[in-house]
Amino acid sequence: MCGIVGYVGNRQAFPILIEGLEKLEYRGYDSAGVCILKPGIAYGQTGSFEIVKSEGRVSRLKALAAEKDTSGTCGIAHTRWATHGDPCTANAHPHVSMSGSLAIVHNGIIENYQIIKEQLQKRGYVFMSETDTEVLVQLIDYYYKSNGHELVDAVRRALSRCFGAYAIAVVERENPGHIVVARKASPLVVGIGADTDEFFIASDATPMIEYTHSVVYLDDEQIADVRPGKDIFLTNLGGDKATVTVHEVDVDISMLSKGGYPHFMLKEIFEQPDCLRDCMRGRVILGDKEEDNRIVLSALNQCHDRLVNAKNIIIVACGTSWHAGLIGKQLIEQLCRRRVEVEYASEFRYRNPVIEADDVVIAISQSGETADTLAAIELAKQAGALVFGIVNVVGSSIARESDTGIYIHVGPELGVASTKAFTGQVAVLVMLALALGLELGTLDKKEYCRTITELAAIPDKMKKTLQTNDYIKDLAKIYTYASNSLYLGRGYNYPVALEGALKLKEISYIHAEGYPAAEMKHGPIALVDANMPIVFLATHHQLYQKIISNMREVLARNGRILAIVTEGDDEVKKIARDTIEVPPTLAMLAPLLSVLPLQMLAYHIAVLKGLDVDMPRNLAKSVTVE
Ligand code: G6P
Repeated sequence: MCGIVGYVGNRQAFPILIEGLEKLEYRGYDSAGVCILKPGIAYGQTGSFEIVKSEGRVSRLKALAAEKDTSGTCGIAHTRWATHGDPCTANAHPHVSMSGSLAIVHNGIIENYQIIKEQLQKRGYVFMSETDTEVLVQLIDYYYKSNGHELVDAVRRALSRCFGAYAIAVVERENPGHIVVARKASPLVVGIGADTDEFFIASDATPMIEYTHSVVYLDDEQIADVRPGKDIFLTNLGGDKATVTVHEVDVDISMLSKGGYPHFMLKEIFEQPDCLRDCMRGRVILGDKEEDNRIVLSALNQCHDRLVNAKNIIIVACGTSWHAGLIGKQLIEQLCRRRVEVEYASEFRYRNPVIEADDVVIAISQSGETADTLAAIELAKQAGALVFGIVNVVGSSIARESDTGIYIHVGPELGVASTKAFTGQVAVLVMLALALGLELGTLDKKEYCRTITELAAIPDKMKKTLQTNDYIKDLAKIYTYASNSLYLGRGYNYPVALEGALKLKEISYIHAEGYPAAEMKHGPIALVDANMPIVFLATHHQLYQKIISNMREVLARNGRILAIVTEGDDEVKKIARDTIEVPPTLAMLAPLLSVLPLQMLAYHIAVLKGLDVDMPRNLAKSVTVE
């Protein structure tokens, strides 16, 4: 939710900021803005801000900025996902304080902004926008004026009065050579250029990878003053100095481009075989003989006793990650015989849930920044449970807050609709359930070894499944007309039905519902008519015959059936209007293949409808507000 970029150093800031915004646009794209600092012409003269803002995308901002003088070596920029106020130019960031001294960009929500606003209004402050961010910059300005223009101190005093979430970058007109940043519950990364002669600020590390791999992740309630030539001055909200820990990020720059694909989403769909190989590297070990196969997970050793002794496992997640969690539940229950609950993090955090100190809470998140999932973790920690993170973004908040965990290692996912992160999450859950099941003695060694052989074969089978892309592209033409559709599956394929429906909703704006197939007759069947596409996950597994019965029920009502089937299936082909084949595999691994056609179908329908696949309306990739 909202992307922040900042630069201070000796290069021209504007191109760095714009390219950075383009890389962060997945975080929100309602409006964009940039502020470049112009030093005073003569010594001692106050500088000025060159601010350009626009509604909509970064490309629009870029076009507008072409008419302005955007030269300068320090600046901040923002791409917005609207929370307070319309996505209009007045509400776009950066916001400037009434005195004109300070400019700010902000990601998050200041929950008590209204009361602070009223107090400031009484002191004569006038507001030009409806945003909570403008309130924050005015509050900082208020302290700044009263403390002899000490920006770090003013930021600290202002933030001490705020409830909610923030990642901010603030610049001052009178002192254009530095940026003050702070965070609480919203991510913020500082990149350190060579010899600390330049600094990069961003919501995640992607905008700075081109320039540096040395980064500092701010912790909650930390404030940093970054000034070229000096070390980062890091303090906490109480004013105490904090230790600066520099991390090296390992992201290949080519991962951040579309690599010849028209959209990130398509690239990410097609990357999945390689992503799964990366995810399993060093973890899925094939022996010379099948009986020597093993899963190696360091997280299991780290917290061995707590994992093995856990009576209950609670999975918390949102969106697509929640769907992966539903598969995780089935895997852990089947292979480890442990009770598993799967919770929407947003519900869990406010429900006074029962969490025992010997429970394990598994938090699944692609971004590692989802506000509700972070809050659920906090609750788990308070109860003394072990927090186990399954995260993609290395160094993200959830990764850092977890006691232990497993990175999915599928590389940056930039398309807003999650694809490769889902299959990475499922693969990690398979590995975890296998390793834990063996450890607990609830999984037979032979089955363990055989499943590992099958798991290792999945990337090649994914590759084969992706060859159906052209066929699906053609098929999509027929389905673009739909305004509603149903996705039905059972067992391991039920969460895939939910995920397929979510993909369609997210990017093609077609209303879609996912259901366990047998539930269809308890309501959704009333919707079935000749115009309603019904997608069945009918691979050759548990309950296959029962799925066929469900299909016949739909057929009897003239429903149009599209079925995902196992290669060589003849039975379903007699019933369904269209079928898409996937290679055979074990039931518990089926989601890793059966989700691919659904991702491709949603993608092609959206493209045919002329929609913006990578940045669907109203959505954002990283939801850092609750
Ligand atoms: C947003 C994204 C979804 C994602 C969900 C959870 O809604 O658009 O694709 O599944 O957040 O995000 P997380 O990063 O926690 O997996």
